[in-house]
Amino acid sequence: MRKLLFPLLFLSGLPLCTGGRYRRFVEWGADLAPGSFCSSRQPSPCCSGRDDGCTVEILESLCYCDVFCNRTSNDCCPDYGTTCQGIAPPVIKAGCVFDGKEFKPSEVIRKNCNVCTCSQVQLFRYDWVCSNNSCLIDFERLNKSAQNLGWETANYTRFWNKTFTDGIKENVGIATESKAQNMSSLQNKIQSDLPSFFDCREKWKSWIHPVRDQRNCASSWAFSTVDVAADRLAIESKGLLTNQLSPQHLLSCDKRRKQRGCEGGSAEKAWWFIKRRGIMTEECYPYNVTQSNTAADRCLDNMDTCPNANSSTSKIVLYVTPPYRVGDSEEEIKTEIYKRGPVQATLQVSADLFMYRSGVYRHTGADLVQSKLAVRIIGWGEDIDNKGRVRKYWICLNSWGTKWGEEGAFRIVRGENHLDIEENILGVHADMKRSLSTHPSESIRDEGLINIYNQKQIVVIKRPRPTARP
Ligand SMILES: *[C@@H]1O[C@H](CO)[C@@H](O)[C@H](O)[C@H]1NC(C)=O
Ligand SMILES: *[C@@H]1O[C@H](CO)[C@@H](O)[C@H](O)[C@H]1NC(C)=O
Ligand SMILES: *[C@@H]1O[C@H](CO)[C@@H](O)[C@H](O)[C@H]1NC(C)=O
Ligand SMILES: *[C@@H]1O[C@H](CO)[C@@H](O)[C@H](O)[C@H]1NC(C)=O
Ligand SMILES: *[C@@H]1O[C@H](CO)[C@@H](O)[C@H](O)[C@H]1NC(C)=O
Ligand SMILES: *[C@@H]1O[C@H](CO)[C@@H](O)[C@H](O)[C@H]1NC(C)=O
Ligand SMILES: *[C@@H]1O[C@H](CO)[C@@H](O)[C@H](O)[C@H]1NC(C)=O
Repeated sequence: MRKLLFPLLFLSGLPLCTGGRYRRFVEWGADLAPGSFCSSRQPSPCCSGRDDGCTVEILESLCYCDVFCNRTSNDCCPDYGTTCQGIAPPVIKAGCVFDGKEFKPSEVIRKNCNVCTCSQVQLFRYDWVCSNNSCLIDFERLNKSAQNLGWETANYTRFWNKTFTDGIKENVGIATESKAQNMSSLQNKIQSDLPSFFDCREKWKSWIHPVRDQRNCASSWAFSTVDVAADRLAIESKGLLTNQLSPQHLLSCDKRRKQRGCEGGSAEKAWWFIKRRGIMTEECYPYNVTQSNTAADRCLDNMDTCPNANSSTSKIVLYVTPPYRVGDSEEEIKTEIYKRGPVQATLQVSADLFMYRSGVYRHTGADLVQSKLAVRIIGWGEDIDNKGRVRKYWICLNSWGTKWGEEGAFRIVRGENHLDIEENILGVHADMKRSLSTHPSESIRDEGLINIYNQKQIVVIKRPRPTARP
């Protein structure tokens, strides 16, 4: 005998199943008031044994009042328990629970980057219904992608809460493909006796500028550029020109040719900008993210004074020569860093980097995104992993503040072009003559220029010609 199914099954979207009584458990409760089904049945409300005819109509279907309900109870009338067994119906509360706290229907909470609303999901059941964004910080996903990462993770407040899409949009920064691959690379005579560990910060100390924070702005292209420029200017001037330089100058003024400020840019174009127009100091043109995010943001480098009215120094503008590409072999990169200081590199990014705390980073399964992160490489080293193998790494400085990673730095696998980090290495020389001849400090100008013309301390290095101008 064919029978109709309990109507709640339709309501909860389950497939119609014919033949026999449906065994799937469906919760029922206060919404359908007991008392109006089995109790209204004539002549006898409850039937003994299995009696497939012992039914009552309910929402255009049928429910049962036979003793079979004692076993299955899923296709029975809501009031079977109360009418035929004398049991009180379950009390169903309308609401949801989170972290031990109760919430009313339509109340909203946040779970990481998702918004959840307490909703009725079945006739008698309430639960959280959440948006389905992929979050930037997601340890579950990270755990799935690797048994043993080989590096330590952390949960950062600044990244928590963010969707993956927003996180990439706000914190990365190389938006346009660099033409650097087509530049001729500098022929570095490879130095064979390089140490197994090297850190520019030990050799050049305060001439290597500290890690900064690009905040919610995809400006790694600007930060890595001005910081490498500042490091190189300090090294080549032997400490005469040590100013921290201004990424804001690039964000506000280097806006043509698809340079998009906080939405990303090209490091190579930034280098050409500094070569042509020079770069102001951080003190003179301080970082101001909110400003550079708006269309109203004006370039303020045409005046004789600093955009920062409170600047204690007069306007200093420093220059570099055209950037050059460093060959992509590990030895060439090491030689370059060892001889001349930090280089600029770009790498592919995925969500796992945002969870990096310490150790030698190696990318795990998580998806890579199109845009790249630009960083400074300032050294290298090696350590032993937990399987006893030697692990070579680069030491890089990021621009996500000093709370991220190893005080703002990270170490990444070396010698495998991991995430393309070794294939787009740029170096640059200070343009000492131009930087000094326009310098507002007479003593610095004199000392520097005397050094250049005596060719005693500062050697003007013949620079390579790039093949194409951007
Ligand atoms: C229902 O089942 C319980 C336990 O299985 C049993 O004790 C009870 O007598 C049954 N009631 C009826 C009406 O058969
Ligand atoms: C959420 O998104 C993931 C991948 O984007 C998808 O596999 C999954 O089915 C989605 N879940 C829901 C409930 O929509
Ligand atoms: C991920 O794995 C680590 C270590 O294996 C563990 O401590 C952590 O609780 C896991 N996190 C999640 C969300 O599974
Ligand atoms: C991450 O940190 C935030 C606070 O910054 C906290 O609310 C959240 O529960 C943390 N998440 C995990 C998975 O530890
Ligand atoms: C999550 O984001 C909301 C608003 O976007 C904010 O009010 C809240 O403080 C954030 N929570 C954490 C733990 O960062
Ligand atoms: C590099 O040069 C090749 C051939 O000259 C050209 O096809 C390619 O688009 C160039 N790449 C870039 C990034 O400009
Ligand atoms: C400059 O300094 C004055 C006094 O210290 C202060 O009120 C003002 O806000 C500062 N202006 C800027 C742009 O920092």
